[in-house]
Amino acid sequence: MSNKDAPSESSLEAKTRYYGHKLMECWRRSFEDLENFWSGVAENLSWYKRWDKVLEWNPPFAKWFVGGAINASYNVLDVNLKKGLKNKVAIFWEGEEGATRTLTYYQLWKEVNKFANVLKRLGIKKGDRVSIYLPMVPELPIAMLACARIGAIHSVVFSGFSASALADRINDAEAKLLITADGMYRRGKALSLKGTADEALSQTKTVEKVVLVRRAGIQDVPVTKGRDYWWDELMKEAEPYCEPEPMEATDPLFILYTSGTTGKPKGVVHSTGGYLVWVWATLKWAFNPQPDDIWWCTADIGWITGHSYVTYGPLLHGLTQIMYDGAPDYPAPDRWWEIVERYGVTAFYTAPTAIRMHMKFGEEWARKHDLSTLRILGSVGEPINPEAWKWYHDVIGNKRCPIIDTWWQTETGGFMISPAAGIDLVPLKPGSATFSLPGVQAEVVNEEGEPVKPFERGYLVILAPWPGMMMTLWRDPERYISTYWSKFQPNKKLEFKIQPPAIYYTGDYAMKDDEGYFWLMGRADDVIKVAGHRIGTAELESAFVSHPAVAEAAVVGKPDPVKGEAIVAFLILKLGHQASEDLKKELVMWIRKSIGPVATPDEIYFVQSLPKTRSGKIMRRVLKAVVSGGQLGDVTTLEDASSIEEAKMAVEMLKRAMEERR
Ligand code: WT7
Repeated sequence: MSNKDAPSESSLEAKTRYYGHKLMECWRRSFEDLENFWSGVAENLSWYKRWDKVLEWNPPFAKWFVGGAINASYNVLDVNLKKGLKNKVAIFWEGEEGATRTLTYYQLWKEVNKFANVLKRLGIKKGDRVSIYLPMVPELPIAMLACARIGAIHSVVFSGFSASALADRINDAEAKLLITADGMYRRGKALSLKGTADEALSQTKTVEKVVLVRRAGIQDVPVTKGRDYWWDELMKEAEPYCEPEPMEATDPLFILYTSGTTGKPKGVVHSTGGYLVWVWATLKWAFNPQPDDIWWCTADIGWITGHSYVTYGPLLHGLTQIMYDGAPDYPAPDRWWEIVERYGVTAFYTAPTAIRMHMKFGEEWARKHDLSTLRILGSVGEPINPEAWKWYHDVIGNKRCPIIDTWWQTETGGFMISPAAGIDLVPLKPGSATFSLPGVQAEVVNEEGEPVKPFERGYLVILAPWPGMMMTLWRDPERYISTYWSKFQPNKKLEFKIQPPAIYYTGDYAMKDDEGYFWLMGRADDVIKVAGHRIGTAELESAFVSHPAVAEAAVVGKPDPVKGEAIVAFLILKLGHQASEDLKKELVMWIRKSIGPVATPDEIYFVQSLPKTRSGKIMRRVLKAVVSGGQLGDVTTLEDASSIEEAKMAVEMLKRAMEERR
């Protein structure tokens, strides 16, 4: 088929030729019969009160299942007990050091009920924010579900973030309670977490109480009397049952902070009803969960993947899942495959960066284990390169398992573009996330917001609201509007399935091929993806310039064979400061301290100047080209002609700085 008669997203007939028919039909109904379609999906959950209206859409604010009342913890726990899953294993937990724990649905239910009562006793009420800073221990989902049970809003902060990152998030959410641990294990070492938490707490005013989980057996943990309490001690005295709080479908379930293009992280707010429906539906559509599945999503709950597909999704479906707290290659590179074999994992969901890491170790590590229980594999976090796709497919999946490449974001709540094994699996293409799921109207547009031709790169946009979309940014609706809904204006070249029209900007590059398949092509904004983790370059830059030796900083992502992108920083020092290897080391530590180990810079270059436009904006495109060794691109078309010579000189100096390093 030639490109010119290729279908566009809006030509339904053409699309049915490629889409499985059932998938196409389902997709079409999700818009044309919106009320019935979503009611049918939402009826799979248990509601205290049925919604009056499926969607109230005042762009860009959507209210899903308006008037409905529901509780998340009731749906993932009590409902499963009623369905006869009382003694089914909910979580097989394993720690890096070899400890194991098994929690049945009944045991999980009991823990959540008791901890919900603990929260109440500590003065937490509906609508209060609770920050959670824990490694991957069962207490993490237990704490989240206990919050959900009483209507408190959880805000989980990834345990790889630093004290000041934690403090920023606590302050923005004005959390009343912090739940953390004595420490955590990584690669055989016990690291302190409470020390970091205390440092964060010294920069916050709202936290009244702290709950401490014992995890790493750390001695002499500092405990502040009247503020800090041990989890196990509180639980001993807790009442066994807590009535779940009926929540409005549109009440916030949680806040999760994510990086954007400014230094300040964004508090993405997810609803209770719409989010739960979306997580339930997307897991069903994409992975077709089965009652005897052993599900394993390797993501940390500190990220959205862990929220949606560790805490909420698998439990909503009554699945048994694996939770592993440790490094994927400790004590040996086959740690993961050993776990897959021992528990008989059937559905495995991980990130391309992890796959590439295992590729590097060599396939013999996987070959040592019987992976024949696997039936389906998933990928998320960044584009999966065809080479990694094939390795995953051949070596891990033994060429039998479909690869579900799920494109989505913290903001979308759940999968958006993904193969749909639970509806109709279309032929897969290595590196393509295939088509948008029902309820998702995705399109690729140019700078003017008009659809591009097949194989042309453009911006990925979403043209209709969906149940899992964030409600807003915490206490910052202006930023919600300007970041996500203002880049493109509705125009006649686009068809909008839901009125009034509005365009959600994802921040991603994408293209469609001549069969309408979506290919994701990385971030189009100043966000970089390091090992699948989202880091804002602006956050890094402001952390660098807060160091007394640094005058100016520019940070860009450099393609990395394993991590996807690596962090490269160009720094101009203040007068009186000398470039040195020691200073580099100090700056690496500085970043680890101000953002966290997750943001550790890979390369630092001291330079005299940076390529800038006349208005003083750093030419990021140029820097990116420099670090990736690619073509500089057309520098002359950059707005400010007068600064081109200067920019060129700066680039030459950057290149020289990088050469010297080699
Ligand atoms: C960004 C969102 C969504 C859970 C994990 C990350 C990139 C995510 C894919 C994929 C290509 C992907 C995008 C997106 N991304 N999944 N399957 N193919 N790119 O959540 O931290 O909010 O990051 O991750 O760039 O915008 P997040």
